[in-house]
Amino acid sequence: MLLLNLRGADGPLYRRVYHALKSTIRAGRLAPDARLPSTRELAADLRVSRNTVMLAYEQLLAEGYVVTRDRATTSVASALPAPAKPVSFRPQPAPPAALSAYARRLMRGLGPVPGRPRPRLRYDFRYGEPSIDEFPREIWRRLLAARTRRPARDAFGYASPAGYAPLRAALADYLKRARGVVCEPDQIVITNGSQQGFDLAARVLLDPGDVAVVEEPHYPGVTIPFEAAGARLARVAVDGDGLQTRRLPPRARVAYVTPCHQFPTGVIMPLERRLALLAWAARAGAWVIEDDYVSEFRYEGHPLEALQSLDRESRVIYVGTFSKTLFPALRVAYLVLPPALVPPFIAAKWATDRFSATLAQEVLAEFITTGQFERYLRRAGNRNAARRGALIGALRQHFGDRVEIAGENTGVHLVVWLNDVRPRDLAALIARARELGVGLYSVAPFHASQPPRAGLLFGYASLTEADIRAGIRRMAEAAVTAGYR
Ligand SMILES: Cc1ncc(COP(=O)(O)O)c(C=O)c1O
Repeated sequence: MLLLNLRGADGPLYRRVYHALKSTIRAGRLAPDARLPSTRELAADLRVSRNTVMLAYEQLLAEGYVVTRDRATTSVASALPAPAKPVSFRPQPAPPAALSAYARRLMRGLGPVPGRPRPRLRYDFRYGEPSIDEFPREIWRRLLAARTRRPARDAFGYASPAGYAPLRAALADYLKRARGVVCEPDQIVITNGSQQGFDLAARVLLDPGDVAVVEEPHYPGVTIPFEAAGARLARVAVDGDGLQTRRLPPRARVAYVTPCHQFPTGVIMPLERRLALLAWAARAGAWVIEDDYVSEFRYEGHPLEALQSLDRESRVIYVGTFSKTLFPALRVAYLVLPPALVPPFIAAKWATDRFSATLAQEVLAEFITTGQFERYLRRAGNRNAARRGALIGALRQHFGDRVEIAGENTGVHLVVWLNDVRPRDLAALIARARELGVGLYSVAPFHASQPPRAGLLFGYASLTEADIRAGIRRMAEAAVTAGYR
């Protein structure tokens, strides 16, 4: 008599009989070619109807676990899969031989990828966190609801890889007004964050061995995809005027720059350097990628127009994003491309992910064309200015001239150099501050080698003024207990 445990599965009775038989076969307790009891016998043993057993046998037959011979006997199939091992997922390093050269280069260059939720710190100066306390959520919700209730004819189907046409038109108009960027809507390609723009640029423009100029210190969001593409990085040092154009190599395929607010130092590139960079690009035959990630927030002086506005040779690829002005989870950014690069970038975007999600683009287009975006930018700019002021004031109050503040004129972060902390002692200060609930972040990850001084990068957009003051007070306590005055 075949002993079956029918309590191991849910659902109709025949499914439970089927599951019990399947596990018995897979565990090897019914060997290949072994005869199963007749449906009548098994039904009597299990005290179920014969029909129930017949349905279970039919399912096993359909899946190939049993075979029927001369329509009367049912036996276990001769070839069966090996018994399943219990699976528990733990990421493990793949053997390098199983990976492409691209993946091997990528894994070498990449630090830890965010995934697990981080413990929340009471005063976290992490760069990149958004501030959404004043974001007009109700207006956004209404725009989204209206789009979902009365979808445009093509809203739910496949769409253009270049992006939603009214959003591209709204952007061309906004960029001309706000950034002096001269372009037709057809030069714009919508991407999932600037990150996708950098990745597409690496694929479209770089072959293994090509030279790619990057700033030093640098933005890893760019160096990682460039190196994964096999490019040789030419790291050009930044001084008080940004990228040192006289140190550029004679030839390169691309140069990546952040002229509005060098990342991470916050230096702004003056006109003379911008013109020198464009003249070099023409001589070197290089494309220039201008990452204009945060120019909307400028606190002192007039905003400089984009590098793209000076480009007479169609060499500049302008990259803009909504990650700082709205929020990073939106994942909407855009490229303004020289006309010759539009077809290959559109092809690469199509090959990568077809196109960016239409609904978010539709809502964003309306948010811009109804004036909501610029209204919100003004409010967000005032709020960021107050937070920046609170941070600078608190740093001065607690640390005086023992700290040097840099890059504070634009953006949503600034850099603080600690004059009386040795670079190798910075980790102890960061650890002590963490114990007091303060998140501090070294500038070291943005340097190719250990920076000469101890520096911290402060994001301030997501903290209230009161929290900023309290956080810096605690940082000062941490500095005392970690052995600094
Ligand atoms: C230099 C720089 N570029 C671009 C971005 C924006 O990236 P994304 O648009 O992919 O969110 C950031 C954000 O942290 C940045 O620091």
